[in-house]
Amino acid sequence: MSTLQKEIEKRKTFAIISHPDAGKTTLTEKFLLFGGAIQVAGAVKSNKIKKSATSDFMEIERQRGISVATSVMSFEYENTLVNLLDTPGHKDFAEDTYRTLTAVDSVVLVIDSVKGVETQTERLMEVCRMRNTPVIVFINKLDRDGRDAFELLDELEEKLQITTRPMSWPIGMGKNFKGVYNLYESKLNLFQPGQQKVSDEVIEIKDLADPRIDRYLENYADELREEVEFIEGVYDPFDLELYMEGLQAPVFFGSALNNFGVRELLSAFVKIAPNPLPRQSDKREVAPDEAKFSGFVFKIHANIDPNHRNRIAFLRICSGKFERNKFFYHTRLDKKLRFNTPYSFLARSKEILEEAYPGDIIGLYDAGYFKIGDTLTEGEKLQFKGIPSFSPERFKEVLNDDPLKTKQLDKGLKQLSEEGVAQLFIQETARRKIIGTVGELQFEVIKYRLKEEYGASCTFKPIAFHKACWVTSDNPEALRQFLRRKADYIASDTHGLPVFLAESQWILKVTREDYPEIQFHNTSEFKVESGKLH
Ligand code: G4P
Repeated sequence: MSTLQKEIEKRKTFAIISHPDAGKTTLTEKFLLFGGAIQVAGAVKSNKIKKSATSDFMEIERQRGISVATSVMSFEYENTLVNLLDTPGHKDFAEDTYRTLTAVDSVVLVIDSVKGVETQTERLMEVCRMRNTPVIVFINKLDRDGRDAFELLDELEEKLQITTRPMSWPIGMGKNFKGVYNLYESKLNLFQPGQQKVSDEVIEIKDLADPRIDRYLENYADELREEVEFIEGVYDPFDLELYMEGLQAPVFFGSALNNFGVRELLSAFVKIAPNPLPRQSDKREVAPDEAKFSGFVFKIHANIDPNHRNRIAFLRICSGKFERNKFFYHTRLDKKLRFNTPYSFLARSKEILEEAYPGDIIGLYDAGYFKIGDTLTEGEKLQFKGIPSFSPERFKEVLNDDPLKTKQLDKGLKQLSEEGVAQLFIQETARRKIIGTVGELQFEVIKYRLKEEYGASCTFKPIAFHKACWVTSDNPEALRQFLRRKADYIASDTHGLPVFLAESQWILKVTREDYPEIQFHNTSEFKVESGKLH
């Protein structure tokens, strides 16, 4: 086996996703503890933008500084090099999360056993479905009185449109939580609350008729036997292929806070989760074991050190080997670039790396060359796909407060939109600049950063748009006419693509009916979207 092939087979790149508060941070931390990447609990917590910080942008700035270091956490577990990508917990940064999902090969979805499927869970799964990302579900907080396990599985299937397959099964819950039975390996794992360190105490019971079960579980033993029999009768067996296609989700139960059920989850993850997968580009599919290097930028982080205006571009390697100081081809700019100080996230602190392989995420210092979605290759002109912009939900017009700083404002808006902080739309007719975001918080971040980093000040004027839809048509004349007639509601995105700004759901509906030759898209990447998302 070639070195490249060996490196690929060693790696698994994934993200943990959840509705805020379900336990993503806690589970991340436990994974890192198991992987030996951190020594004590509590280390990841600081990465979280607290819910109380809804309007505290100074706090966000501080957090941003911390989070760049923990954006990618790499650790080894059972001979597997695991790259865990962090996603922001705050819902206003949902788009950041969506983009991060383009850089992973699978996800672990955390569900709160008390709350079940929540709004953000559904939206995240929608994004996973766009790329058929394999999903493992972890139902958390079994130490609380949560909902019935079967009911939770039904809800997952119904709301997330995915078949589930329990891999472990909870015995009791809340105060009476006894443990989980590992259906995958026929092992009984008894619960000891408040466990801070990693325990290996697992009782192997191959046969559920074993009387030891009665001794350990007392009156829960028969219930377990019945439920396991029911599961085996009703749920299809775990099917690796269906999981890989994103059609079947294996489900684990546990309590991240109590370190319970986490080892089963992690062990199954390293066994079944995919190695770096091929990626679709505008020209062809790129396989990870191709000798030539390729990768794409999915995230840009600015101003980690206030004394330096550098940005860091996060690049996911898709094929071949990345090498320090080698010239690579920036396909959008048609330019050769080399990187003197690329860094890895493998160690506890940032380290300059010499080489990196498919599945790895590397940080590249960027003097303004990169936009989200940019591709680097060894010379082939291609562009990776699957990094769409989604329609924002809030829109505000930018009013320049200081005409002497117009240039700075324009530059700041352009760079911040390239970083993906928000989307910038230019409306030619009214000479308006419109910022679109998912949440209110970004407006504060933008305002603050424009002032701090670019010396520009502006005010935001709310505009009541409901959605921005990218518009296309097979008939160029029909599109031209549409753009002309609706000029007051047409703007262009940062790539110069036309979008229709609809004032309400109803207007969008009527416009669709009036212009049957026009296609309205909710994301900027239409092929990915077709037939899957909307
Ligand atoms: P998030 O990243 O998905 O937003 O969730 P996070 O891990 O921060 O967990 C949210 C809250 O749920 C935290 O409590 C955390 O301690 C708690 N939690 C996580 N896993 C479990 C579990 O298995 N059982 C129980 N009972 N609670 C759990 P908090 O009070 O918001 O924060 P903190 O004061 O504990 O830091």
